[in-house]
Formats: sequence, structure tokens, C-alpha cells
Amino acid sequence: MAQQEQWKSKIGFVLAAAGSAIGLGAIWKFPYVAGTGGGGAFLLLFLVFTLVLGMPLLLGEFMIGRMGQSNPVQTYGKLALNPKWNFIGKLGVFTSFLLLSFYSVVGGWIILYIVKLLSGGLAGLTQDQYGELFGDIISNPYPTIAAQLVFMLVTILVVAQGIQKGIELASKVMMPALLLLFLILVIRSLSLDGAMEGVKFLLVPDFSKLTSESILFALGQAFFTLSLGVSVMLTYASYLPKTQNLPQSAISIIILNIVIALLAGLAIFPGVFSFGMEPNAGPVLIFSVLPAVFAHMPFGMLFFLAFLLLFLFAAFTSAFSMIEIIVSAVTKNDASKRKKSTWIIGMLIFIVGVPSCLSYGVLADVHLFNKTIFDLMDYTVSNILMPLGALLIAIFVSRKIPREDLFAELKQGSNVRYTFFSICYFLLKYIVPIAIIVVFLDAAGLSDWIIALFK
Ligand code: PFF
Repeated sequence: MAQQEQWKSKIGFVLAAAGSAIGLGAIWKFPYVAGTGGGGAFLLLFLVFTLVLGMPLLLGEFMIGRMGQSNPVQTYGKLALNPKWNFIGKLGVFTSFLLLSFYSVVGGWIILYIVKLLSGGLAGLTQDQYGELFGDIISNPYPTIAAQLVFMLVTILVVAQGIQKGIELASKVMMPALLLLFLILVIRSLSLDGAMEGVKFLLVPDFSKLTSESILFALGQAFFTLSLGVSVMLTYASYLPKTQNLPQSAISIIILNIVIALLAGLAIFPGVFSFGMEPNAGPVLIFSVLPAVFAHMPFGMLFFLAFLLLFLFAAFTSAFSMIEIIVSAVTKNDASKRKKSTWIIGMLIFIVGVPSCLSYGVLADVHLFNKTIFDLMDYTVSNILMPLGALLIAIFVSRKIPREDLFAELKQGSNVRYTFFSICYFLLKYIVPIAIIVVFLDAAGLSDWIIALFK
């Protein structure tokens, strides 16, 4: 087999994995699903799911990724000594393909916003006008498709270069910049009139607002933001030397991810309440609130431009990881095939994404299962395929790999305590699968039926 690529530095891996995690999920999606799902109660659930289910899963993917030193598909068969287990990797590759097809649509929206801002079209509008502008921008077929294409082309160009030159270098500079800008933004938002209402909405849980569906969304969101269940983290860990401290890397990524989601919430909800908007406005939320927040500060548009660029960058580093695993699966780590495969895969993803792109415009009336094409794609990936992948990975790691092998792997490069390992192992073996199954059944409305059966 071809020589496995390797990360250049320890921090490079953490930044790249954090780059995969932090993206549209924490910045764009988290505020709006939290807004729709009940604010504080949703946040709390999201945190619990992240720590109790996300953390062991992330470690699980890291352990078997580095252990297998292979691609996302063959790692499973190689470790289980039976190729039939490769289906978990194949499912991940398929999920990643669908995911990038609509993720790139939102990436395109950010590009269009940047173009709009540079042409002076964003300054000095009223709150309502920002909302309308977003609607106009995303419903226009040609520019949105063109922007989605640009997003895919950049992704292809970077990933075709190979992981080291592309992903690692880019992540090193941009992640710290993103954090800094978010901090400025939050300070600004908190100083708006009525900001505290927004802070309360985000931080004070009101459990009466939770529904089975919002619990499923919180679960999906926890996996989505950590890029779990797709074998992305497994693939990134396969490029690691044995000296990397896996628990420390996982914890840093989780903390960074939570911090960014919290900052995004704190940047947005004060604005929502201060401007008298609805927190459950949906995907438009960040695009209509933030320009208004920025518009009222000195050099606002300059800051907004910086924000959009970093936001776009965060989306790119996630997109790189999605296409990377498909490329890695297809080329089986043969570097000579990388360029061509990346181009073919990237273009296919673009084509599959076009209907999602149009579903905010000319295809807006096309509904399947009561959802637009875009929403259906997102729902299928985030709330069905990713939790399903996570379930399979949890079962695979905890039941197919001997416990002592896992601990031995985790210990390399770290002096992790056995207790910590045991807790994660227990969570992975029992709690993660049970939680995912229960949330699935509950959201499918089956729980009442099952309870009735046992009465
Ligand atoms: N974690 C990314 C985000 O929050 O935007 C999305 C993502 C990337 C999900 C890669 C899954 C994945 F494999």
C-alpha cells in the first residue's frame, strides 16, 4: 500500500481537526437550531450530548484511525480482520458526499455576501431590509449556483494539493483570528440595548420548550459540529504519528468547538432581541442579524468583512475534511491519484448539490416529506445518517476491538489515566448506543407505542 501521509506538526493536526469541527455547524447552524429548539434548554442538551456522547466517540474515531493507519473504508475491515465491516466507512463516505453537496450551498451564500458587501450593497440598511436582502440573494439561481461552484473549486484546489500544504497551513493562521474576531463581536453585541434578554434566552433553560424533535436536533447538532459518525476524524487521525496525545487533542477540540458555538450564540441572540426579531427565524438568522449588529459600530462594514472572510474560511476547513475522506477512500492513499480523483469527486458533489441550491428559489415549492430539498438533505444527513454512523462506530470500537488494545493505543503519546479510559469506554459501549436508539425512537414517535406494548 502507498505510504500514508503525515501531519507536519502536533498543533497542525489539532487545528485541522478543530477546523473540520468548527464550521457552519457552530457558527450558522447552532444559533438557528438553538433558536428554534428552545434556547437555553437546547444549549444544555447540546452540551450534555457533546460531553457524554461526543467525547467518547471522538476518542473512539481517533484511536481506531491511528491504530488502522489506513483509509476510512478499509480501516474497519483491517482492524476487524473482516472486510464486511468496511460498510461503516462506506456509509461515512456516502454521508460526507451528501453533506458537502448542501454545505457548499451555504458556503456560496457567504461568498455572495462578501461580494455584496464589497460592492457597497450592505451598508446602511434597516433590520428588515437585511432579512429581505438575504431572501433575494439566496433565491437568485445563477449567482447562487456560481458561488456554490466557486466554493467547490477552492475546496478542490486545496485538497488536490494534499493534506500538509493545504489544510494544515491554512488552519494555523485562521483559527486564532476567528476566535479574536468573535470576541470583538460578542462585546459589541452585549453592549446593545436589551442584550440581556438574548443572553437569558441562550443561557437560562426552559424545558417546556423541548420536544422529541428538538432533542433529536440537539443530538444531530452535537455530532454535526464535531464531524462525528462520518469517519472524518478517523481519517485525520490515520495521518498521525504515535507521539500525538489523543485525549488532549480531543479535549482541546471539544472545548474550542463549545467556545465558538457559545460565542456565536452570544453574538447573535442579544442582537435578535435588541432588534425585536424572532429567535426561530431559521437559516436566515445569522445573515440578517449580524449585518445589523455590525452596521451600528464604527468601521462596522470592515469588521463584517473580516468576519465573513473568517466564517468562509471556517466553512472551507470543514469542507476540506469532507472531501478529504472521499478522496482518501477512493485513492486508497495512492498520492498519484489524488489530483484527478479530487476533481472528479468535487464536480460530482457540485452537481448533486444544485437542486439543494435551487430549493430556496425556483424549486422552493418542491416538497418531499414536507421539507424542501435543502432541508430534506440536511435532515437526512444531520439527524439520520450521522447519528446512525455514530451508533455503528460506537458499536465497532467497543465491541470489535479488544479493550486492552484500545487502552494501549490511547496511552501512546499520553499518560492518560485508566479511569478516564474506562469511563469513555463505558460510555461508548453502553450509553452512546442506547442514547442514540432512544432519541431515534422517540423522534420517530415510536416511544409511546413501545411503552404501550409493555403495559
Ligand atoms: N463539523 C462541521 C461543522 O460544524 O460545520 C461539519 C462537518 C464536517 C460534519 C465534516 C461532518 C464532517 F464529516
